[in-house]
Amino acid sequence: MTVGNVVGLVGWRGMVGSVLIERMLAEGDFKLIEPVFFSTSNAGAIAPVAAGGGRLQDAHDTALLKQCDIIITAQGGDYTASMFPKLRATGWDGHWIDAASTLRMQDEAVIILDPVNLPVIRKALSAGGRNWIGGNCTVSCMLMGVGALFKAGLVEWMTSMTYQAASGGGAQHMRELLTQFGSLHAEVRQLLNDPKSAILEIDRLILAKQLSLPPAETGNFGVPLGGSLIPWIDKDLGNGVSREEWKGGAETNKILGQGAAFGTPAVPVDGFCVRVGAMRCHSQALLFKLKKDVPTADIEAMIAADNQWVQVVPNDRESSMRELTPVAVTRRLGIPVGRLRKMAMGPEYVGAFTIGDQLLWGAAEPLRRMLRILLEH
Ligand code: HSE
Repeated sequence: MTVGNVVGLVGWRGMVGSVLIERMLAEGDFKLIEPVFFSTSNAGAIAPVAAGGGRLQDAHDTALLKQCDIIITAQGGDYTASMFPKLRATGWDGHWIDAASTLRMQDEAVIILDPVNLPVIRKALSAGGRNWIGGNCTVSCMLMGVGALFKAGLVEWMTSMTYQAASGGGAQHMRELLTQFGSLHAEVRQLLNDPKSAILEIDRLILAKQLSLPPAETGNFGVPLGGSLIPWIDKDLGNGVSREEWKGGAETNKILGQGAAFGTPAVPVDGFCVRVGAMRCHSQALLFKLKKDVPTADIEAMIAADNQWVQVVPNDRESSMRELTPVAVTRRLGIPVGRLRKMAMGPEYVGAFTIGDQLLWGAAEPLRRMLRILLEH
């Protein structure tokens, strides 16, 4: 079955959308499609010339959206919640590829991460699937790194303790983090310039500044993040679990095509999700309880062979400091997995640390790869 190549792009100007367009240009995707650029606020203006040009169309006009074979949106959850049902209600049966979480857990939606779940995607496609939703960034980056262990059926359970970057909140959050760093530095700049100044005095001034940052400098995160951390991400589900933590288990299993909705047992995945002052890479410390004792070298080999982006980093100080940091991974598609070792609890307990650029594998890349899958279908 051939899917037409008129592709509507919505939300392409935002942070995720911009990374998506960059990647589509880099991979030559625009050569394969007839793009139609939509805008929620600026219909009629000129669309990006490098990507095809034309005029921006009104993203709220279902009659125009309906003409697309495929729509890719990075506009956000509110747009999806408002436009997706309206568009489907018109009888449109095109393919909807979406970065937002709104539709993720619906039965008729597949969470797309093809290096990990191409069979799940293909099965849904054959069954007439039309809704392709990008996963939570943390989950996608984690599965790109250690999906091999799940696919091999080796995981009894996993905990993930995350160190999530400001970008997960959005562009304004990244700006706010940097503004906070700037305010903190400015507060003690003179003392820092004097090598003999007292560090405890600097520390006292920093704390006073953190506690008195104006609302304009904490409005997005709600509290200072610069020089601190925030151990709660996304909504409070009211049972002691954050929505981000809930996603870890729910989405991991759905991506892998297992759990109640598939009539198979889910693998328990749980942990704490923490915001830290990194820019756009999400890091995670993982602990696996494996179903059996597998030699570390075999685990490394399985992980390394899983996909072309994963890189096993030797578990030594030098390699970890050089290759296993947000700074080393930012703007790269590579997913390093390091600190791999058996833990003190026993031979089935394996620790690992992994990092991914949350705007690439965590957001844009699975969307453009789904487009390719549809075009090649
Ligand atoms: N919820 C993620 C975060 C964003 O806040 O880091 C991407 O899924």
